[in-house]
Amino acid sequence: MTKRRFSQKHIYYESIDSTNEEMQRIIQKSDIEEGTVILAGFQTSGKGHMANTWESESGKNLLMSMLFLPDFLKSDCQFYLSRIVSLALLELIGSYCDNVTIKWPNDINVNDKKIAGILIENHLKGDKIEKSIAGIGLNINQEKFSSDIPDPTSLYMETGCHIDMTKLLDKLLKKLEEKYNMLVNNELDVICRSYHDHLYGFGEIKNFSSKGKKFRARITGTEPTGELILETEEGEILRFGFKEVVFN
Ligand code: BTN
Repeated sequence: MTKRRFSQKHIYYESIDSTNEEMQRIIQKSDIEEGTVILAGFQTSGKGHMANTWESESGKNLLMSMLFLPDFLKSDCQFYLSRIVSLALLELIGSYCDNVTIKWPNDINVNDKKIAGILIENHLKGDKIEKSIAGIGLNINQEKFSSDIPDPTSLYMETGCHIDMTKLLDKLLKKLEEKYNMLVNNELDVICRSYHDHLYGFGEIKNFSSKGKKFRARITGTEPTGELILETEEGEILRFGFKEVVFN
């Protein structure tokens, strides 16, 4: 059993374009330790998945990026990083409220509303992942969201309580270190099973659409690359990448 210890270095900006972008700039200039965290009170160009933006009211939510150096992980297994970050967030949020699920590929929902998003950006070297930036946006104390964000929520909206962000961050960093060390120790089956156990719609017939075509199917799994595996009502097995299928 090996254990990697994360750096305790936390870099805080009151305002920055994006914590992921800042991490990209820093790692281009210097070698920094695994587990280094960049935090921001506000992002002027917060990035979401698939070129979306990530909006967050100043000082109310967690906006952070953590650096992993997963040199042991093959590039075709990169979805394990999403899985461990999702599981760390799931457990953290589950310590404040019920009905927490992971929505493929890496949203965290509470009562079917999005509370957190993850944006993982990898630097590959050969067939290995040299550096990985895990960006996390977790809605904590925001009380309302602009109407164009589909079904958002926050810990405050779910619990009615204002949350101490320092304590929450401390808990999250411990969980991220714990889950990352499961990956270091090759506990791939346990990680995969827990991710699927908490995956929204796993094993249930749901409505999907792909390329404008609607169909009903159930999720039977996800690939280490991140593809979603569906079995249609007719028994056909289909695999979809991140942009290729949506839940209806
Ligand atoms: C998504 O659900 O679309 C992913 C959202 C990820 C947002 C976080 S906020 C901190 C980090 N910096 C960014 O610019 N994006 C991620």
